[in-house]
Amino acid sequence: MLQQLKEAAKHGLAAGTDHQPERPDWTIDQGWDAYTPEEHAVWKTLFERQSRLLPGRACDEFVRGMLDLPIGPEQIPNFEQLSDALSKRTGWQVVAVPGLVPDDVFFEHLANRRFPAGHFIRKPHELDYLEEPDVFHDVFGHVPMLMNPVIADYIQAYGKGGLRAKHLGVLEKLARVYWYTVEFGLVKQADGLRIYGAGIASSATETVFSVEDPSPNRLGFELERVMRTHYRIDDFQETYFVLDNLDQLLDLAHIDFGPVYARVANASDLEPGVVLASDSVIARGTGRYHAARGKKASE
Ligand SMILES: [Fe+2]
Repeated sequence: MLQQLKEAAKHGLAAGTDHQPERPDWTIDQGWDAYTPEEHAVWKTLFERQSRLLPGRACDEFVRGMLDLPIGPEQIPNFEQLSDALSKRTGWQVVAVPGLVPDDVFFEHLANRRFPAGHFIRKPHELDYLEEPDVFHDVFGHVPMLMNPVIADYIQAYGKGGLRAKHLGVLEKLARVYWYTVEFGLVKQADGLRIYGAGIASSATETVFSVEDPSPNRLGFELERVMRTHYRIDDFQETYFVLDNLDQLLDLAHIDFGPVYARVANASDLEPGVVLASDSVIARGTGRYHAARGKKASE
């Protein structure tokens, strides 16, 4: 089941072109009126489950963003209303897509402050099963952080950088940065390590695992280190990279990645669970969780 959740967080990295909608930017109408009571009920179940787990685990910015958005337990949010609130704060919008979209379409949206969100929701009997990012992952997980000006700039820069990285043939390296920040990032706050990554914030089990389980490594975020590091697509992460504060991402939004790619090209890739002597180790994991499950695929 976790495998599908991880796939859901991939966003555009593995999209096909089988179901291309009519519009060239792959957007569709959300079709809010067509949601059934059962679909709203799935949202409510997921919303309430995460709302119980996230206090004391999600970062302050996530909590604040959620409070300032028209998001509640009763109904799947309306993207137009979300976009109204978001655009006033950070200039972002939420646009509906049918599922994963091709890389260049995804980057083009981000570069223009449009967040593509799956319009569908998972089935009631598959609460932890997803093949593509649905409205709960995309809206509950991502949109609160887009209310934060630093994250807003960072994700736009990722969109611009993604188009360039694809052209340079280094998309794999950049995708790891997105993965270990936007999807699975942790940040230090006054009262401990907190979640800001959407892949964690939208997953009940990883919400607890990422900040409390002794198994994973928690290492200080370092750009070149992260670019070299494979990640788990089929399970919890073996390593979480931790920011000192969200402002660290501002630097990433403004530096030229060209020289960084050149340096990383000469360095070896690293397995997800490895700890280097040069790492800033916040907590060295026991590795027990993944050892018990055996080795699985990573990217
Ligand atoms: Fe995501």
